[in-house]
Amino acid sequence: MSHDLFLAAKAAMAKAYAPYSKFPVGAAIRTVDGRVYAGANIEVASYPEGWCAETTALGHYVMGGGGGIREVAVIAERMAKVTPCGGCRQRLAEFAAPHTKIHLCDETGIVETVTMGDLLPYGFEGEILK
Ligand code: THU
Repeated sequence: MSHDLFLAAKAAMAKAYAPYSKFPVGAAIRTVDGRVYAGANIEVASYPEGWCAETTALGHYVMGGGGGIREVAVIAERMAKVTPCGGCRQRLAEFAAPHTKIHLCDETGIVETVTMGDLLPYGFEGEILK
């Protein structure tokens, strides 16, 4: 059902620029109205300045018009069921709901599906800042 999202994440992973960690990651986001945006991790020689696949995908998502996120797929070449890092959980939660599905993948497809709320319980919310 969400296999196409897995394929989009896997195709994005092939474009990762990860010469330092050699840990390519791909992520794909489907909006509530069906658009798909993908991204890969991008590293730089000053290591902390690189960023994650989820963050690249979120940039494409916002520039493409945003809207709510229905589901996300994440894949790493060297780790089955990679999960978004802490910072990316907060970034994804900005545009996702607690019930939004996060698909964890290996090279064959989705192997486990969790929710945004599973990954970031008691997350900081920005309502009061608006
Ligand atoms: N990375 C991601 O792109 N997403 C994750 O969810 C975990 C980590 C990247 C960051 C860095 O380029 C490499 O994986 C190793 O940490």
